[in-house]
Amino acid sequence: MIDLHCHLLPGVDDGAQSVSEAVALAQMAVADGIEHMVLTPHLHPGRYDNSLLGLQPHFDAFKVALKEQNIPLSLSLACEVRLSAEVLQLAVANELPFIGEWNGYHVLLLELPHSHIPPGSDKLVKWLLARNIIPMIAHPERNKDIVHNLDKVLPFVDLGCLFQVTAMSVTGEFGVPAHQRAHEMLENNWVTVIATDAHNRQHRPPVLSKARHLIEQMYGADRAVSLFSGNPSDIVFHASPEKV
Ligand SMILES: [Fe+2]
Repeated sequence: MIDLHCHLLPGVDDGAQSVSEAVALAQMAVADGIEHMVLTPHLHPGRYDNSLLGLQPHFDAFKVALKEQNIPLSLSLACEVRLSAEVLQLAVANELPFIGEWNGYHVLLLELPHSHIPPGSDKLVKWLLARNIIPMIAHPERNKDIVHNLDKVLPFVDLGCLFQVTAMSVTGEFGVPAHQRAHEMLENNWVTVIATDAHNRQHRPPVLSKARHLIEQMYGADRAVSLFSGNPSDIVFHASPEKV
């Protein structure tokens, strides 16, 4: 399986805080059947002032740490980018980190504020699409506006956005409303990938298998392959898993 969204890179956001913690998380991911992770630290201007350039040395050091421990997990680096005015500047400066490609578009993991959908978000999405960038909305099922009213996600669906739902929402571990919205989105076939959004071992672990089993039971084996391997592989490697 491929995990497109996690906070394993140590010491750069509210995810893993030390190399040893990050290594333990990587071991946990491998034990769960995860083969590749895209490390997506928060890029949230004013809160987590990360940049691809600044993160690169941390990424290189973490890769070395995994190699030293013989942990068979491949990695790539991007960011979970908070929706903000700075996104425009980063796009113009060619400094947006992308998790991969989809139908010729660069894929941006875009995080809405948890509390609401800011007015004008659809305009930003259109602006990005016109520049060959397609947003993948991170965990829409946890956004309070969408929790309150599923229709709030429709403008993003209509614009052709991709959607990443979090594994713990699928299993119900993030509570009833997120669980309900996750499955409504799955039933509507709006979900592109399911990812861990892992932050730590105890409360937000890098585990996909539980959600995968559930998806297999509820929606069938083919759907599970698409959500956990096929679509993420297409995005990260621009090929289906068989071809990788
Ligand atoms: Fe995240």
